[in-house]
Amino acid sequence: MLSSILELLLVAASVTPALGFCGSHTHLQRRAEEGEAVPISTFGYIGDIGPHNWAALDAANSACATGTRQSPINMVEGQFQIVAGTDVTLTIPDQTEGIEFENLGTTVEGVMEGSGATMVLNGEEYELMQFHFHHPSEHLDNGTSIAMEMHMVFQTAEEQLAVIGVYVDLDTGVASAAAPAAKRRHPQPDHSLWKKQAEAVSQMQITAAADNGAVTSTMLETLFQSVEEIATPGTKVTTQPLIMSELVETLKLGNFEAYSGSLTTPPCSEGVNWMVATQRVQISTASFERVRNVVKFNSRFTQNALGSPNVVSLSAGAAAVAEPVAAA
Ligand SMILES: *[C@@H]1O[C@H](CO)[C@@H](O)[C@H](O)[C@H]1NC(C)=O
Ligand SMILES: [Zn+2]
Repeated sequence: MLSSILELLLVAASVTPALGFCGSHTHLQRRAEEGEAVPISTFGYIGDIGPHNWAALDAANSACATGTRQSPINMVEGQFQIVAGTDVTLTIPDQTEGIEFENLGTTVEGVMEGSGATMVLNGEEYELMQFHFHHPSEHLDNGTSIAMEMHMVFQTAEEQLAVIGVYVDLDTGVASAAAPAAKRRHPQPDHSLWKKQAEAVSQMQITAAADNGAVTSTMLETLFQSVEEIATPGTKVTTQPLIMSELVETLKLGNFEAYSGSLTTPPCSEGVNWMVATQRVQISTASFERVRNVVKFNSRFTQNALGSPNVVSLSAGAAAVAEPVAAA
């Protein structure tokens, strides 16, 4: 199993490196200096600038309409291979000073470049550049859409991309573990809050139910306390301290569904190593609503099965055939 994954990754590695990231501006250059404006995306999710028309926005986006290994996909048997959570070495330091959280217009994104967060997969070291969110989920879990999906975007020194997708579900039961303090305009690291969170996490039983039960994410609850402060595209805020180890431990409880796909945003470049986690996380309805009110809708439609014709090119062909009939 692992050797076939390696093969998949080697094939992927030979593809031209992508120029951008899923839902993000390019991080190939060193991260913007403090004070530099947050770039706002020029594509969107509705109408003329929406995903059915991304290829028309820029010649560089042609893969969006012609690629045959496009993401997201319906995650059904045969589309992916299983990689055990314990076979992926994830190292994400706790962010005691908080992180920069930005509104790109198309998503909200936490900047991680330079934080020392890495993933080792089949001997390749990747650096975590950023993570961002889609509402609703982009991948379908055996046909079902989930409330949200987090994408953790990694890159090797050779600019090979890997993205961990994590389904974010709604908390169906009791309130979440931590009760983060009230938001502040210019938050400084709050070490009493930090202590409270750490206690909450250590008391929390990070256990996965046999039926893929989601684990409450203190990290996301804390992060989303800041989301209303970046309601306007182009704005950013420094978050409260974030305990990343909780997420790492949670992901280890499950497996990853691995396949070679594409960026889910323009330029839709292929050769992206996707790892969709079977272990879900969950957030409170209140947090979900806060994020939804800012992000609104930012999910690319489900792409065709891997290796099948691109659905945009299929519908363009159908239109060309239908036209003379309509004219007649
Ligand atoms: C996926 O869905 C199909 C049809 O709804 C069902 O028969 C199958 O058992 C599901 N597979 C898994 C792994 O849940
Ligand atoms: Zn994404």
